Amino acid sequence: MRVLVVGSGAREHAILLALAQDPGVTALACAPGNAGTASVAEQRGLDVVDPAAVTALAGQWQADLVVIGPEVPLVAGVADAVRAAGIPCFGPGAEAARIEGSKAFAKDVMAAAGVPTAGCEIVVNPAHLDAALDRFDPPYVVKDDGLAAGKGVVVTPDRDLARAHAMTLLDGGHPVLLEAFLDGPEASLFCLVDGGTVVPLLPAQDFKRVGDDDSGPNTGGMGAYAPLPWASPGLADELVELVVAPVAREMVARGTPFSGLLYAGLALTSRGPSVIEFNCRFGDPETQAVLALLRTPLAGLLHATATGALSGVPPLEWAEGAAVTVVVAAEGYPGTPRVGDPITGADGEGVLHAGTRRRDDGAVVSSGGRVLSVVGTGADLAAAREDAYRRVDAVHLAGSHHRTDIALKAVRGEITVPTAG
Ligand code: AMP
Ligand code: GLY
Repeated sequence: MRVLVVGSGAREHAILLALAQDPGVTALACAPGNAGTASVAEQRGLDVVDPAAVTALAGQWQADLVVIGPEVPLVAGVADAVRAAGIPCFGPGAEAARIEGSKAFAKDVMAAAGVPTAGCEIVVNPAHLDAALDRFDPPYVVKDDGLAAGKGVVVTPDRDLARAHAMTLLDGGHPVLLEAFLDGPEASLFCLVDGGTVVPLLPAQDFKRVGDDDSGPNTGGMGAYAPLPWASPGLADELVELVVAPVAREMVARGTPFSGLLYAGLALTSRGPSVIEFNCRFGDPETQAVLALLRTPLAGLLHATATGALSGVPPLEWAEGAAVTVVVAAEGYPGTPRVGDPITGADGEGVLHAGTRRRDDGAVVSSGGRVLSVVGTGADLAAAREDAYRRVDAVHLAGSHHRTDIALKAVRGEITVPTAG
């Protein structure tokens, strides 16, 4: 099988490494890729949001399967175009990708499917903002109702800050979603979905804030681990039954079945699991940890999902133990990152590339905010954490920063799901 992976992050690097281990894969390409993906796959230049360009490349390269990593091309209909050309594609069409592309659409689907999620209100008119804020208790949750790469959300007890963020969004022409605050630890559940068939991967947790102890602004994700030692072993199945399967059925009923990876971001609250958001693709950086543990060959799974054959796939196999990924970010991230700095130690085992490129002189330099995702594995979470940080220490990038507490609370047994009452 010849597999073309579209995207250029550490998620795509992790997907490529897993595909490379599948004996059924005969060739791999990545477009546009980065300095790290170039060591596993042929590289092609590509405007990933141009459906005709992606389809042309897939045809010309004779791909048997196209895997689309990021949400923006999916929301833009790239998967529809590839499928229309007769090439199997892992990733939902534009209609189904709205589950991520519009938070209002996701809320509507959840309401119809009876899936628990935070109560919310959409504000489009600044004149209605204060009255709407009055209907919520602090802490306030203010979101951009559109794709914002994880950075459109402000959670704050400070009403003035909440109001200011909402006004910034409204001034930019973006509808604002106000949401009730959800208590309890967060979990990310990735599910392979083809129409009504849902196959969950290992639950993971990611770290959205830039700084240790969840300080500072939200980012695209600063680290992750899997599985969750503090969760019940039945959590994934429980969440499929409560959340993902009802949503998958609702999408089928609407005539826009979801095909690809449906990612439920949840809070495990005192009143039970509640959805924070859906994404229509593999999460970054959780994928880097989850795929490090997957033993079932990935290409077969993604091809089965893309061709409606998921119900025939045997139960997934996982390595024992745990995986931790730590994101190394450029100075300035999540604001404007400093780029162009040389990186050393970036070719070590477990070092996945995101914002990197190879200069003409051969040096690997930073080219984005999240530069590397460093993955460690071990017999348990503590060992995986040590492995990841040992590998982070071997990497050098001037001005870079990373969180030092990824998976720490879980290792210390400090995470509990609140109970009612
Ligand atoms: P989102 O982009 O919707 O995933 O939100 C980013 C992050 O903001 C989440 O991972 C949570 O940490 C936080 N967040 C979002 N919505 C809520 C909520 N209703 N209650 C508490 N925290 C939230
Ligand atoms: N890990 C968060 C995301 O992929 O959106």
